[in-house]
Amino acid sequence: MGAPQTDVLSIEEIPVNDQVDLGSVALVTINRPDKLNALNADVMASLKSMVSWVEATDSVRVVVLTGAQPNQPPEGKRTKPNAFVAGADITEFVGKRSDDIRSMFTDNAVESLWNLSKPTIAMVDGFALGGGCEVACSCDLRVASDRSRFGTPEINLGLIPGYGATQRLVRLIGYGKTMEMVMTGEMIDANEAHRVGLVNHVCSPEDLRNYTLDMARLIASKSSNTLRVGKQTIRSALDVGLTEGVAIEAEAFASLFDSEDKDIGVEAFLSRETPQWKHK
Ligand code: COA
Repeated sequence: MGAPQTDVLSIEEIPVNDQVDLGSVALVTINRPDKLNALNADVMASLKSMVSWVEATDSVRVVVLTGAQPNQPPEGKRTKPNAFVAGADITEFVGKRSDDIRSMFTDNAVESLWNLSKPTIAMVDGFALGGGCEVACSCDLRVASDRSRFGTPEINLGLIPGYGATQRLVRLIGYGKTMEMVMTGEMIDANEAHRVGLVNHVCSPEDLRNYTLDMARLIASKSSNTLRVGKQTIRSALDVGLTEGVAIEAEAFASLFDSEDKDIGVEAFLSRETPQWKHK
């Protein structure tokens, strides 16, 4: 099955290694730069198809999600600002009532992304606001350019976040900072986002792609099975108490002793070779 490209979402498969076939990193670009990559129904449907494709395609090891760069403006017009995603498409809120929104939010794309079993990295260059901040929070890691800004401005629309920020953001940056962001609607810059733990790394816009892809390739070079078990196990820490979580980890750790990749990894270490993972 080929990558599900659409008008609003493109997917580039980048080899993990040029010499050996270690699969690919899927670089997924949300492509509505004239609307600062706002999440309309087409983007959400495309994201869901992308997630299904990634889940079904063994050769894809890691997903990097980003927003398209601004288009060249028409003569005499200003260049639009850089954005990862400037939120849900506000024009789609007009005339909607609660029942419309409930059906939109059932089984939504942000949850699909969150539930993807493979590692995901948000590569943020510019505004990551509202649903954009939430899409970033639904990835496992976030790398941002130093000109990026994060925020949950829904309060200014008479709303609160709806794609998980009140839950996932609290777990990333804590109760107090989440309250501040949600209640004031003010943006924070990339360095502040890094300081509070929202962003893993900050770099210049010029370095962003290489830095993020290097990180994606590094992760992609590990055992897919071990990564999947690790992701699932760390996720459990968000839902269960410490005692139960430690027991979940011990069981996951034990289960990996039946995996081929544990034998491969341990033998490679002892014979000072590079492990050749099965990637199952
Ligand atoms: N939904 C729909 N369209 C959006 C959008 C959104 N969330 N965010 C930006 N756009 C559109 C603008 O309407 C504008 O379209 P136009 O040029 O056809 O008129 C275009 O993207 C560029 O945005 P603009 O507002 O002109 O850029 P700016 O530099 O003046 O301001 C922002 C940038 C990010 C501060 C501003 O666009 C903004 O506040 N966006 C909404 C953020 C938000 O509230 N998100 C949460 C939604 S729940």
